[in-house]
Amino acid sequence: MAITDELSALRESTLADIAAADTTAALETVRVAVLGKSGTLTGYLRSMGSVPKEERAAVGKAVNEARAAVEEALGAAKARLEAAELDAAIDAAAVDVTLPGRAQQMGTRHLINAITDEISEIFLGLGYSVATGPEVETDWYNFTALNAPADHPSRSMQDTFYVRDLSGDTAAVRGESDVLLRTQTSGVQVHAMEDEELPIYVIAPGKVYRRDVADPSHLPQFTQVEGLVVDKNITFGDLKGTLEYFCKHMFGPDRKTRFRAHFFPFTEPSAEADVSCGVCGGTGHTHDGERCRMCKGTGWLEILGCGMVDPNVLEMSNIDPEVYSGFAFGVGVERVACLKYNVPDLRMLLEGDMRFLRQF
Ligand code: DAH
Repeated sequence: MAITDELSALRESTLADIAAADTTAALETVRVAVLGKSGTLTGYLRSMGSVPKEERAAVGKAVNEARAAVEEALGAAKARLEAAELDAAIDAAAVDVTLPGRAQQMGTRHLINAITDEISEIFLGLGYSVATGPEVETDWYNFTALNAPADHPSRSMQDTFYVRDLSGDTAAVRGESDVLLRTQTSGVQVHAMEDEELPIYVIAPGKVYRRDVADPSHLPQFTQVEGLVVDKNITFGDLKGTLEYFCKHMFGPDRKTRFRAHFFPFTEPSAEADVSCGVCGGTGHTHDGERCRMCKGTGWLEILGCGMVDPNVLEMSNIDPEVYSGFAFGVGVERVACLKYNVPDLRMLLEGDMRFLRQF
C-alpha cells in the first residue's frame, strides 16, 4: 500500500476513534496513540527523511492534512466532552429543591424538668423564691451544719461520693476528704440562712448524688426540691398545711396525705409525708382483691421528708432559735414523677427512650 493510502486509512480510523471516545480520558488516550511521542502519525512525521524524494511532497502534504484533520477533530471532541462532563458534575451536585424536607422530630420537655418546675411553681405561687447551692459541696454544708457531725450515724444513711483533691493529694478517699458531691439539697438551707435576710421562704431544686447502684427505686444521681421557711411563730401546723396544699396541687384534690414520725438530724420533730396511692385509690388492693403493686398493699406512697428546723441548725447559722422557728422539707423529683404517672421503675426516666418520654 502506498504511504498516502496508509495515511488516509490512519486518518479515517483515528477520526472514527475520536468520534467514539465518550470521555475526555478516552479522548486523551486516542490523542496520545496518534500524536504522542511514539504515536502513529508522529512516526510518519519522523520518518519523512526516508521517503523517496519524488514522493516526499505528496506524503508530506498527506501527513500534514491528516494531522490538521485529527487535531481539529480532537479539539472539537474535547470541547464537547468537557461541556458534557461539566453538566453531569453540576447535575450530580445539584440540590433538588422540590424534594419534600425530612421531618424534624419536635423535642419535649423531659419529665424530670417538667416535674421540677411544677413543684417549684406551686411554691412560687405561695411567695417562696428559688435558692441554689453548689453540687460539689463541703462536708460542712452537706452534713455538719445540718447537725450531723463527723461519725454521726445519720451520715451512713447516704452513701457519699467524696471528691479527690486534684492538687495532688490522693488521700481523699471516703471520710478523708471534706469535699463531696452533695447527697441532698438540704445544704442549700445553710447557704440560704447565711446569705438571705430573715424571714426566709425558699425552695431549692437541684441534682444530688449518692453511691447507689441504679435499681427500680434508686439512682446514683437524682433530683430533689428542698424547702425552707424560717420566720417568727412558725409551727408544725404551718408545715402540715403547706405540704397538704402542695400534695393536693401536685397529685389532685382527691388524694389524701398523712404524716408519720421519722428521724432526720436537721429537724426535730421530723416526719415523712405519704400521699394516698393513685393506682388503688388508697385501698391497698385492686378491684379483684389483689394486693396493689404500686403501694405494696399499704394504700400509701412515701413522697417527702420534713420537719421543724432543729434549734441547733438555726444556731449554727447564727439565727436565734428563741426568736425564730422554721420548717423544712425535701421532695424527690423522680419519685414524684413516677408516683404521679404510675411509672414502675425510676431508671425508665433516664433511658432516653423517646416512646416513653413523649408520653408526658
Ligand atoms: N435531705 C433528706 C434526704 O435526702 C430529705 C429531707 C428530710 C429534707 C427532711 C428536709 C427535711 O428538708 O426537713 O433524705
